[in-house]
Amino acid sequence: MLQVNQLGKTYRSGQRELTVLQDISFSVADGASAAIIGPSGSGKTTLLGLCAGLDRASTGSVYLNGIQLDDLTEDERADVRNRYVGFVFQNFQLLPSLTALENVMVPIELRGERGAEKRAVALLERVGLQDRRHHYPTQLSGGEQQRVSIARAFANAPRILFADEPTGNLDAETGQRVEELLFELNREAGTTLVLVTHDVDLAHRTQQVLRIRGGRLVSE
Ligand SMILES: Nc1ncnc2c1ncn2[C@@H]1O[C@H](COP(=O)(O)OP(=O)(O)OP(=O)(O)O)[C@@H](O)[C@H]1O
Ligand SMILES: [Mg+2]
Repeated sequence: MLQVNQLGKTYRSGQRELTVLQDISFSVADGASAAIIGPSGSGKTTLLGLCAGLDRASTGSVYLNGIQLDDLTEDERADVRNRYVGFVFQNFQLLPSLTALENVMVPIELRGERGAEKRAVALLERVGLQDRRHHYPTQLSGGEQQRVSIARAFANAPRILFADEPTGNLDAETGQRVEELLFELNREAGTTLVLVTHDVDLAHRTQQVLRIRGGRLVSE
């Protein structure tokens, strides 16, 4: 489902270059689950973004569902994301001018599918936010925003779900519920799961653990 070959990412700011990922290779099988762990600043979010086609690698290649992302234009990558990918951002990235319900409806409407509202309501119910659906992001707590972003990521029943610290802002009980939801999707819909986490228990539930340090994969 996901294949990463000798991936590298270098940011350029003015004259200076900063290499944040180097020579990363791994693959995640269709329907499998993997956790990316490592210290703050080690490159986890950057790696997740490259795997999901949100950003472009500097070196190496990423294959998602057999499609090589590196050669695609921005629009083509967006199309691949709409088709196959769900993404839960570390900082949620909800659209501030839309309600919780409307945020969850966006990816469904982008695909031109019917019944967006009904599906979005059901998803918000699953994350326990049925009574918050008409709230705007600023009217939601951090954990509630996180759950909206998880509902949005599920909206198109993605083949692969990337989640950046999905339980990071949640209390133990809500975190547990979100965790169950992620693995339910993995089990029932066969969704491949790739998540970044600092939660050791969560990492242990996945089939594969990728440990990165200083932009390099140190163990698998
Ligand atoms: N757009 C950018 N331009 C320049 N440097 C960047 C950019 N984005 C990230 N970095 C740098 O890349 C490194 C890796 O960042 P990244 O966000 O991937 O870390 P992380 O492992 O997700 O950390 P955390 O656990 O704190 O979320 C950091 O040193 C960061 O400062
Ligand atoms: Mg991060």
